[in-house]
Amino acid sequence: MGFCLYLLTLLLLLCLCTAQWCYQKQSCADTCEDPSRWAVQFPRCGGLHQSPINIVTRKVQVNSSLPPFSFIGHTDIINITVKNNGHYAHFGLPPSVRLTGGGLPGHYRASQFHFHWGGSGRPGSEHTIDGERFPMELHIVHIKEPYRSLAEAERDTAGIALLAFLFEETAEDHPHLGTVIAALGRVKHNGSNTVIPNFRLSDVIPAAEDLRSYYHYVGSMTTPGCEQAVDWTVFHRMLSISSRQLEAIVEQCQFWTGQPMTDIYRPTQPLDGRVVYRSKSGAPQKSAAHAWISAFSALLVIVTLMH
Ligand SMILES: *[C@@H]1O[C@H](CO)[C@@H](O)[C@H](O)[C@H]1NC(C)=O
Ligand SMILES: *[C@@H]1O[C@H](CO)[C@@H](O)[C@H](O)[C@H]1NC(C)=O
Ligand SMILES: *[C@@H]1O[C@H](CO)[C@@H](O)[C@H](O)[C@H]1NC(C)=O
Ligand SMILES: [Zn+2]
Repeated sequence: MGFCLYLLTLLLLLCLCTAQWCYQKQSCADTCEDPSRWAVQFPRCGGLHQSPINIVTRKVQVNSSLPPFSFIGHTDIINITVKNNGHYAHFGLPPSVRLTGGGLPGHYRASQFHFHWGGSGRPGSEHTIDGERFPMELHIVHIKEPYRSLAEAERDTAGIALLAFLFEETAEDHPHLGTVIAALGRVKHNGSNTVIPNFRLSDVIPAAEDLRSYYHYVGSMTTPGCEQAVDWTVFHRMLSISSRQLEAIVEQCQFWTGQPMTDIYRPTQPLDGRVVYRSKSGAPQKSAAHAWISAFSALLVIVTLMH
């Protein structure tokens, strides 16, 4: 009897430990699986349509039938709950925040958003562009209507729509990230939570008409169980963050292991025959300016030659 109890406890402990996953930088030895071993516990993480990916701009295909998005409820004033779930900080969104368009089959309602970041001075975006990793990445998770939960949506290959925004480091602070940073300071430990009152998603991300340029591909959730049910949109337009704000973000929280919550991104996954599409207006905004500069230089050359 005593021996059985002992065995049972041992088994239980073993299950508890091996069910945990962690990021590469977490040194948790045998007690949990880092990204290269997620598939041991979560078989779908070893699938062929995984995220994130490196977007190779030279191989991206233009798809002229990818329309702009329509955002609904993004300017509403809402209260959001913030929770440290031991792996990342989760910002819950109400179902009144919705979207359609962007080549998605129907309406989707927002569920939550979260960030992926690096460490002090190290970039931590999940998607990379031509091999470049950016300082931080925002993911807004949406569930296809009428599904009520992520678990339900995950069974549909287009059940989840994920919007990704990359950040670029600027000299000026992002004017509306202050409340987000302060909230992170109130959820340092696994399981702790707080509320951000009077929040507006439109304070953090631009309006849909300013987001016509984007990449689109099919992939997965980037944390276990890595369900391959995600329509991914990675916007061209980057959000700004100052180095001071970035430093404040990466310093505050702790993983469930008690270690500092840094470098929370999954390495990029093989494309495996998938195609990344670009919306028609997805040409880099640079190119218009570029054309002007070229024309202007040509004019200068002509003027110089004429003299
Ligand atoms: C946000 O929370 C405050 C305080 O609990 C409450 O008075 C207010 O009605 C809430 N706002 C919304 C939009 O739910
Ligand atoms: C372009 O995007 C639309 C909308 O998502 C999709 O139905 C279509 O298959 C895509 N075109 C190609 C060539 O993949
Ligand atoms: C993290 O906290 C949650 C409760 O919010 C708990 O269920 C979970 O077991 C904790 N994880 C660890 C590894 O302590
Ligand atoms: Zn994410």
